[in-house]
Amino acid sequence: MAPPRIFVVGSVNTDMVVVGQRIPAPGETVTGGRFVLAAGGKGANQAVAAARLGARVTLVAKVGNDLFGRESIDRFAQEGIRTEHVLRDSAQATGVALILVDAAGENAISVAPGANFALAPEDVEPALAELGPGDVVLLQLEIPLPTVAHAARLASAAGARVILDPAPAAPLDDAILRHVDCLTPNETEASRLTGIEVRDVASARAAAERLLADGAKSVIVTLGGAGSLVCQGDRCDHVPCPRVDAIDTTAAGDAFNGGLAFAWSSGKSLADAAAFATRVGALAVTKLGAQPSLPTAEDVSRFAPA
Ligand code: RIB
Repeated sequence: MAPPRIFVVGSVNTDMVVVGQRIPAPGETVTGGRFVLAAGGKGANQAVAAARLGARVTLVAKVGNDLFGRESIDRFAQEGIRTEHVLRDSAQATGVALILVDAAGENAISVAPGANFALAPEDVEPALAELGPGDVVLLQLEIPLPTVAHAARLASAAGARVILDPAPAAPLDDAILRHVDCLTPNETEASRLTGIEVRDVASARAAAERLLADGAKSVIVTLGGAGSLVCQGDRCDHVPCPRVDAIDTTAAGDAFNGGLAFAWSSGKSLADAAAFATRVGALAVTKLGAQPSLPTAEDVSRFAPA
């Protein structure tokens, strides 16, 4: 069987990570951490996650004409990702994220988007002209919203399925949501999108029902160590998460989305795809860094949580 085709339209960042005991409060300095430079960006992370699992991935993105941009493109090629639609912008720097990780693996992230915010709606057209039924388009919100909306429209017109990871959270109108086959907010994003405070499975269900009523065809609310809630029509299924020792939660959501796109486009039901994606996300938190933490298909099949 040919590998599933996944088109990721999204961001590319270089992550500068400091791992310390705790994340400083505003105005505070905390010393004693260690520094790691890692490849990141929600779009790039999701593209790498899907490629390592075995998908044929096309990345549609924009980087600066600088060292970080050139290194990113080289790395995508080494991962087997199609890079002809990764554009270069001489007027902007490649995106950079400053990430603080604490001893429990929790993080705080500040992003300078640079070239990511120069990815215009017309930039995605050549790549998405290749779409057909059976393909999956994976979107996030680290690029301009009009570009996300245009990509979703083109994908749904071509009969491809659209997964939208609404991260970082931003208001979404029904002109976008009606083209979304699966919306994948975490608790924070689901709370911001609906005004319903999501803190458990019951409140996640209430938020998912609101997002379905707003136009999304299905919704998966990811709940960290509590797994995820998969809602379609009037049915919601809770998918538990295996217990792992968390080193760094950065890119756990990206691993989940890459895994979901891979498994869904390989023919699994949405609930089974979410269960697979949960294992991919769980593995990603056991290693430091965004792309360095993303597992291969072999890692996932060997994963035997306690
Ligand atoms: O989702 C994790 C990613 O968010 C990091 O890699 C960082 O680049 C930010 O975009």
